[in-house]
Amino acid sequence: MSSHPTGTRKVLTRKPVPVNELVLGMHVIELDRPWLETDFLIQGFIIQRQDEIESLQRQCTFVYVEGIEHTVDVSLESRTEKSGLLSRTMGAQVNKSSAIQDKPTKQSGKPTEQTRTIYINKISSGQEMQVARDSYSSAKTVAKNIMEDLRIGRMLDMNQARNTVDDVVDSLLRNDDALVWLTKLKNQDEYTAEHSLNVCILSAAFARHLGHDEAEIRKIGLAGLLHDIGKAKIPVEILNKPGPLDADERALVRQHPNFGRNLLMTSASSEHYTIDVAYSHHERVDGTGYPRALQAHQIPYYAKLVAIVDTYDAITSSRVYDTGRASMEALEIIYNSRNSHFDTDLTIEFIRCIGVYPPGSIVVLTNGEVGVVIESNKNSKLRPKVVLLKDSDKEWQEKRTIDLSLGDVDEDNKTYAIAHEVPNKTFDIDIKALLQEGWLNFVAK
Ligand SMILES: [Fe+2]
Repeated sequence: MSSHPTGTRKVLTRKPVPVNELVLGMHVIELDRPWLETDFLIQGFIIQRQDEIESLQRQCTFVYVEGIEHTVDVSLESRTEKSGLLSRTMGAQVNKSSAIQDKPTKQSGKPTEQTRTIYINKISSGQEMQVARDSYSSAKTVAKNIMEDLRIGRMLDMNQARNTVDDVVDSLLRNDDALVWLTKLKNQDEYTAEHSLNVCILSAAFARHLGHDEAEIRKIGLAGLLHDIGKAKIPVEILNKPGPLDADERALVRQHPNFGRNLLMTSASSEHYTIDVAYSHHERVDGTGYPRALQAHQIPYYAKLVAIVDTYDAITSSRVYDTGRASMEALEIIYNSRNSHFDTDLTIEFIRCIGVYPPGSIVVLTNGEVGVVIESNKNSKLRPKVVLLKDSDKEWQEKRTIDLSLGDVDEDNKTYAIAHEVPNKTFDIDIKALLQEGWLNFVAK
């Protein structure tokens, strides 16, 4: 075993810091209470925003912060690593190389703390819902027409695509919940068009969350809408095949990024970023993606962003061969592929953007009752507003709304809390049917 030289160099330290002394850029690795008792989804993070400091101040007295100390014997470094200090953080910045940095690596394209635009909802999700529903339905028709036109050899109508994205983005700028709600109403037999539209909506919502300016949100939305355009060159029977694909079929499907690139390159009005995303949204940051097996630094920023959204929508959608998973499960799958498939920084921001229990999630409460989340609470992600639909025996009960952030209690005087989320159609609760039956009016209140 080689001996460590002694001398002066940097080592990681872990210090308790009172919450009133927190500043941006600090790397929080531990709280004075279990992470699960707080609103923080990510365990271990670098403070990037003032509201994160405020949230820590509300929930903790002090936190442990990782720092760098100089002039310490090098042999201490190996002891620090062996103590499990780094692995215990479990968070986004757990690997040694990134933990040593005071601030996260800024990725080109992502707004910085200084340049990000902060948006506020101008109207409530209930007020926006009716308009959003009309926009969603006409946008779905456009998404379907785009694919069908291309299948019969017509040119892509880029103006129509842009107008659709403009409607979507206008709605998201008024309120970012209503359209995201509607992405949950999936229709299995119209998967490709619906998936394209959902990726458009969620990519634009993600861009808004990241703080991109309006023009950039529209670009990212358009790239999302057109990301799978190459599938217009794949026979529908293969795309909708119930069983597993054979080797030839799989090879053909893997050609869709190339087909998409070629289709867009033949359209005079295509922008380079739509071509980038259509061509590179299946590339992965560890170089295992296709069609070019690009390395992380070679993958365009918009393609990294859309890749996460694309995967999220695919996992949460029911297909002919698979039922859709719950949002939380999809986020966990994506989180576990950060740094191998997906950009770590963007993955964490996406989880923050979607939230723990987004509107439309079906949740089981700790007392066994079942309800649907109708409004997320931005300051208390684990305590949204919920409409209760079923009692603890899973029998329908009279609908009533509870607000978990207000500490509402059940008939045994116990405070309501969410136990876990379940996929759509569990316990015969179908979000789409509820909305169609006029339940929407309930949401709009
Ligand atoms: Fe794709």
